[in-house]
Amino acid sequence: MDYKSVIAENISKVTELPEDQIFKLIETPPQKDLGDFAFPCFILAKSLHKAPAMISEELAGNESLTYNGMFSVKNAGPYLNFYIDRSNYAADTITRINEAGDKFGAAEDGKGQNVIVEFSSPNIAKPFHVGHAFTTILGNSLSRIYDRLGYNVIRMNHLGDYGTQFGKLITAYRLWGDKDALDNDPITELLRIYVKFHEEAKKDPSLDDTARENFKKLEDGCPEEVELWQKFRDMSLVVFNKLYDRMGVAFDNYNGESFYSDKIPAVVDMLKSKNLLVESEGAQVVMLDEYKLPPCIILKSDGTTIYASRDLAAVLYRKETYDFNKNIYVVGTPQALHFKQVFSVLKKAGYDFADDCVHVGFGLVKFKDMVFSTREGNIVLLEDLLDAAVAKTREVIEENAKQRGQDMSEEEISDIAEKVGIGAVIYTYVKSGREKDIVFSWEEMLNFNGNSAPYLMYTYARIRSIMRKAKDAGLTPSSDTEVLGTLTGDDAYSVISALSGFEADVKKAAAVYEPFIISRSLFETASAFNSFYNNCRILGDDIDVKDSEARLALCEAVANVLKSGLYLLGIETVERM
Ligand code: ARG
Repeated sequence: MDYKSVIAENISKVTELPEDQIFKLIETPPQKDLGDFAFPCFILAKSLHKAPAMISEELAGNESLTYNGMFSVKNAGPYLNFYIDRSNYAADTITRINEAGDKFGAAEDGKGQNVIVEFSSPNIAKPFHVGHAFTTILGNSLSRIYDRLGYNVIRMNHLGDYGTQFGKLITAYRLWGDKDALDNDPITELLRIYVKFHEEAKKDPSLDDTARENFKKLEDGCPEEVELWQKFRDMSLVVFNKLYDRMGVAFDNYNGESFYSDKIPAVVDMLKSKNLLVESEGAQVVMLDEYKLPPCIILKSDGTTIYASRDLAAVLYRKETYDFNKNIYVVGTPQALHFKQVFSVLKKAGYDFADDCVHVGFGLVKFKDMVFSTREGNIVLLEDLLDAAVAKTREVIEENAKQRGQDMSEEEISDIAEKVGIGAVIYTYVKSGREKDIVFSWEEMLNFNGNSAPYLMYTYARIRSIMRKAKDAGLTPSSDTEVLGTLTGDDAYSVISALSGFEADVKKAAAVYEPFIISRSLFETASAFNSFYNNCRILGDDIDVKDSEARLALCEAVANVLKSGLYLLGIETVERM
């Protein structure tokens, strides 16, 4: 529950306008004397055949809109203004948050509904670069958000582990592979021989024929080829899993492209039986003119399958296996056309669950003040970015500890640097709308006073430190409604209004697949809290115990929301830093 939703719900009951429509119309007035929320009544004029000002006057007299005294309601011209009772507001918000603890925001909206989140999906034998990190971080966050809202989430990693390039790799490995190098650093070695293959094939085109034959053998299940492919796949996964572990990411399965390859003939048969396959320049395609899209190729002229056919097989398998209510693909925006085609083929074939499939795209990754020695062509590896961020963070943590005279063990510093450094990287991916390109800059990422993970994590750690001091002083956060009701000052009120929006923000983030709605909410909360902290003392001999305990409860609520929200973004908190 948040207040805007409560107001929308109540107005909806009285006016019969849909709640979400009302929710969108509710404004925050520019001046406090006009209330905390305002509803413009223009929308009702037509259906009620009355002037908006008259409608607002009538509504202002309706008892049920006060929500048991939580609001007072006044009309001002065409507006209906809602004034929150700060005392009730404070007590109610803080109590609800602290009762829920660091899982605050959890809901049962998704009970009994299955949601597939497909994310990460790197290509086997290729380096894991900063672009893959975008889908990994976004997908991990969306999975956590849906999970917290009560959906049954299935996390899928649709590995790029199939296709003609594996024929090339097998060929290259037999010719130039170095077993020790493969064991030491599999992806670098696989990339080396893959690049070499392309160089050599320019001089000797017969290599391409060998590669094709080897891929054919792989498709036919010949043991030697399958064994090599399996080895490349397993070794790549070891490397990827290290990164996933480091970032707290996990999957329910790794059914990649290879998994679906034997399910394609059934797709072809289905499309044939529905008369959807036509021949075009030797290939078998589905025409999508009615969707204003280019044809979707199902079988190439040589009869081999392609990316789109594997995706069709995959989505049919997913529907059958998981009976999903929603099937989310977190994949870069350049693949938007591909997904439109796949979903349209489904639709054309009469599968209405096409409408439950969503492509969640995202922008590009750029760098401002960072230089990486790019081991592999022009791409920046995620591992290098993480290592650099952790090293930089470590410098800052060490410096801060020295200045504040904190004594921290080597182990603690390493642990904090790892969590804060990785948090800083993750946060950069989720702090703006996902369609925007992101620009990495050390200055912004590690700014302990700006919109960054270190700032939010530091705010959390600061509260934890206050809590430890309070405990030593024999103080506990209050849970007494009357005591909490004293938190009515402007500073406390700003914190409470930021806190009270969190639940609705989690739902909004899920609805539009935008974790940044949560990061924005956390930044607002942390900023409001830090002003409160600067203006109101929490502990001290000269402070009344009840005041201290009320403020401690507010601190605790902020810590709970920060921890819950950071978790939803994929970021771990630390107890001090
Ligand atoms: N492996 C692909 C790539 O790295 C992404 C796969 C996206 N998922 C899908 N179902 N097609 O570009």
